[in-house]
Order: sequence, then C-alpha cells, then structure tokens
Amino acid sequence: MPQVKQINHVAIVVDDMEQALSFWRDALGMEVAELRDVPAEKSQVAFLPLRDSDVELVRPASADSGIAKFLAKRGPGLHHVCLEVDDIEGLLAQLHAKNIRLINEQPRIAADGKRYAFIHPESAGGVLVELYQI
Ligand code: CO
Repeated sequence: MPQVKQINHVAIVVDDMEQALSFWRDALGMEVAELRDVPAEKSQVAFLPLRDSDVELVRPASADSGIAKFLAKRGPGLHHVCLEVDDIEGLLAQLHAKNIRLINEQPRIAADGKRYAFIHPESAGGVLVELYQI
C-alpha cells in the first residue's frame, strides 16, 4: 500500500517577495537557500529549508501565470501543501478508485526528475495538495 512519508514543503503565494522575506528571513530568521526565476511557470520562487521540509514562497512574474490568477482570486496566503510519498502511481490509482478529484491523473516530471501530481482542493477540504516522489 502506498504511503505518505512526510510534508516535503508548504507553498505560499506572495505578491511582493522582499516583503515576504522581511517576515520569513529577517523576522523569523529562516535561511533562504535558493531564490530563482522559474520561466516555465512565469514565477519566482524562494526556498527556505528546515530539517525535513521547506517553506516555498512563490511570486507571479507575469499577470497571465497560474499563480497570478490564484493571487487575483484568493489573495496572498497558502497555495499548497506537498506530501512526499513512496509510490505516486500507486497512490494516484488508490485516490482515483476512491473518486478523489485529481488535477493530474498521471505524475508529471519536474526538471530535476522528481515526479509530482496535484489533488484538487474540492476533494481535500479546500487545500490544494501536491504529491511528490523523489
Ligand atoms: Co510545490
């Protein structure tokens, strides 16, 4: 049976990266390991790692990005929670069998080779849930 292992990251949508970092980095004292543009998603991301998980800040870089649409509709705040799993295909099949609404029926492959898929918030109490298999 596929297993959820841990929270890999929590992603937060921000409209102003410097303002967000003034809280997460400067006030909380968390370290920014990476701050980069993701042209494919028309966004900028910052990763602030903890021992087993990251806080990820995402800012839209263009008004027609998915993140910009999310920001316009729901405002800044929690975007998704990412769960690390040991068998993403198996878990997606299990969810499908339980009529859970999936955004990605099959895993997608990230630039670094990680497989990931999203579960629709409608089936997850209003929270967008990402699955990761590393
Ligand atoms: Co994510």
